[in-house]
Amino acid sequence: MAKLSFHHTDGAVDVLEVDTGTSVMRAAVTNGVRGIVGECGGQAMCATCHVYVRPGYLDDLPGIGDDEEEMLDCTADPRDADRSRLGCQLKLGSGLDELEVDIPGSQV
Ligand code: FES
Repeated sequence: MAKLSFHHTDGAVDVLEVDTGTSVMRAAVTNGVRGIVGECGGQAMCATCHVYVRPGYLDDLPGIGDDEEEMLDCTADPRDADRSRLGCQLKLGSGLDELEVDIPGSQV
């Protein structure tokens, strides 16, 4: 299990315990976390799962693939050069046993 926290723009926080291998997007959609859409189902083709990873976790993240890199230029809210990631490309576990992300104000 891994701990995943979603910070909303209004200050609310959703904290989930999720199975290893679950993506940030899938965890959000499955548990009704508002602000994450996941329109393409996790194929890195929509950018509606955009999140800003909190600074303390940046060193633990996997690298950014070509598809993710391309879609991060299509986010509704501005891309942050260091913190923006696609939630569908971040899977919990394998060194990422805890993660906190900020949800952008808009996804579409
Ligand atoms: S769910 Fe579409 S890019 Fe992540």
